[in-house]
Amino acid sequence: EKIEWDFEAAEKAGYEHFMLKEIHEQVSAIHNTLAGKVSELEGTIDLKELNMSEEEIRKLSRVQILACGTSWHAGLLGKYLFEQLAGIHCDIDICSEYRYRSPVMNDGTLAIAITQSGETADTLAAVREIMSYNCPTLAITNVVGSTITREANSVLYTIAGPEIGVAATKTFSTQLILLYLLAVKFALARGKLSPDYVKRFITAIRKVPGQIQQILNQKEAIKECAENFANSKSYFFLGRHLNYPIALEGALKLKEISYLHAEGFAAGELKHGPIALLEKGTPVITIATRGQTYDKVLSNIKEVKARDAIVIAVADNTDTEIGKYADIVLTVPRSDELLSPLLSVVVLQLLAYYTALARGCSIDKPRNLAKSVTVE
Ligand code: AGP
Repeated sequence: EKIEWDFEAAEKAGYEHFMLKEIHEQVSAIHNTLAGKVSELEGTIDLKELNMSEEEIRKLSRVQILACGTSWHAGLLGKYLFEQLAGIHCDIDICSEYRYRSPVMNDGTLAIAITQSGETADTLAAVREIMSYNCPTLAITNVVGSTITREANSVLYTIAGPEIGVAATKTFSTQLILLYLLAVKFALARGKLSPDYVKRFITAIRKVPGQIQQILNQKEAIKECAENFANSKSYFFLGRHLNYPIALEGALKLKEISYLHAEGFAAGELKHGPIALLEKGTPVITIATRGQTYDKVLSNIKEVKARDAIVIAVADNTDTEIGKYADIVLTVPRSDELLSPLLSVVVLQLLAYYTALARGCSIDKPRNLAKSVTVE
């Protein structure tokens, strides 16, 4: 008797889509990306492949990040981290713009190119441009042997395993992990953070996989929310500070796989124009985890409510106040403010996934999109 194998179904390991499988795999992908790079006991971060001495790190005057799409969102959070933690000036560019804006080069710049596939044509072109100025370039990628790994001076790999879904999920969160480690390592070398702080940071970042698992265990609430709003005309995503890049990422995920109109904003920008778009019933997903901008975000939520739009807040599970202002609260485990974007993004990935599922979209292979964009 002939047995028919469905290889794709086997690879999905019981999940309906690769995207859902890959969202779940963030637990192990983050664990694996951290493995061997952090010492909780000593408060040190070991990134051998970076090939930079402490002296060279101290001499850096600027970081220039180059990326596209989701990788650019990771880079934007990286900019906040390099500046806030390590006190290093950081610029970030969308690769397709970089070489057309006549960038000014400075000595002491380290370029960091972020690309999960390692094959994005715009990113490779931007890297060639910056390397023509003899600027040392570090690549962050998920694909061993990809073109970027042959061109950059050094490479740090995300240990996410193959990502099949066109929508990047586990490659994004592991890119973030490497950016956190780089920023903290740079901060340590430059005397901006103490080894004790770094020990506490390592303890906290090691908890992230378990916290993501807790969100995954409650995914039914996110599914229900997604189904309730799956026919909305337009979605807004708001975040401030470290969660601004996450708001952009949440909107991109929803656009890509559900084909719905979605826009991400820095919450403070709302009143400078986009608020005109709010209508009764527009879902506004607002990241409102505790942190230095929490009170400001509450004010933004009130502005949204005053226009009869619907607020879906992503908040800490210890927050007893937020329910007074938001229509729906999706919770994440209470964590260090610095690391909370790694949790908020999982909620937004699941929201996009279940919205697309409710709409019957082709989730793993969305229309008009490719896993790596090899044309400029
Ligand atoms: C992510 O979900 C998108 N498919 C897309 O924006 C992607 O991040 C972008 O094309 C960059 O890809 P890369 O990381 O492989 O360079």
